[in-house]
Amino acid sequence: MKGIILAAGAGTRLYPITKSVNKQLLPIYDKPMIYYPLSVLMEIGIKDILLITSEKEQENFKKLLGDGSHLGINMNYAIQYVPKGISDAFIIAEDFIGNDESVLILGDNVYFGKGFEEKLARARENLKNGRCTVFGYEVPDPERFGVVEFDKNLEVISIEEKPKNPKSNYCATGLYFYTPGATKNAKKLKPSARGELEITDLCKIYLDEGNLSCELLPKSFNWVDTGTYDSLVDASVLVRNYEKTNNLKVACLEEIALKKGFLSKEKLIEISREMINSGYRDYIIELIK
Ligand code: DAU
Repeated sequence: MKGIILAAGAGTRLYPITKSVNKQLLPIYDKPMIYYPLSVLMEIGIKDILLITSEKEQENFKKLLGDGSHLGINMNYAIQYVPKGISDAFIIAEDFIGNDESVLILGDNVYFGKGFEEKLARARENLKNGRCTVFGYEVPDPERFGVVEFDKNLEVISIEEKPKNPKSNYCATGLYFYTPGATKNAKKLKPSARGELEITDLCKIYLDEGNLSCELLPKSFNWVDTGTYDSLVDASVLVRNYEKTNNLKVACLEEIALKKGFLSKEKLIEISREMINSGYRDYIIELIK
């Protein structure tokens, strides 16, 4: 299974914050935003990851994440030269995905909370049965998102991008599990009225085949699309409160790597010696005591 993070957007909605710094490198409380989507892929158990960025930002991401060996993963990099839409990620990632299953996560989506692992495991199970999965979350302003409508058995009825009259209050969040062949289907898409290869249009192909599932994330779960000034702050506050209340760190990549067996304790001890002294390092030292 391959993991893809799409982080090539210009972040224009956050100007001037994003004039000289990429959105996905901005802090969400105590770590860069990109740690959060990466933590989700690692939590799924994915070691082969492709990070798609704009050309000018690639170096900064490489400085942060390198080849991934310090986390026991393989980081690969690709460039999206023109923001053609989210489904374009599967065309860019064609060689990387090959004939594999793939999981795409948007670089500005933050997920954390209890019960997530079970939802992710179910989405993996769905793949074995030839079904793709989207993750629904109730929002007050569904017209800002992809909207998923489903029946009482949670069977998906429709999925629409930013509809004027949303058929439900459930947003399809920025995490997508696809069976092999996503690239072939992405290549069939035509740009939408706003000129993008929409991710919801890719999902529709699977819906029409009867192969799209939806996992609902409960209200108690934390999901934030950090695309606005307010949601950027909200995400930081949510993470800080959650970390302090539960006495843990969200999206601590080294901790996940250890839990998943990507890194041995000995290797992590070695890595921690090289780390800059900080609260983040203190947390890791506690883990390996
Ligand atoms: O956050 C969930 C929503 O994300 C979904 O509900 C929508 O269906 C989906 O279209 C998307 O909507 P947004 O309006 O939030 O998409 P946005 O243009 O902000 O892009 C999301 C991320 O993907 C952002 O970090 C930039 C990146 N991106 C986007 C496009 C269109 C790229 O890297 N390249 C692109 O071509």
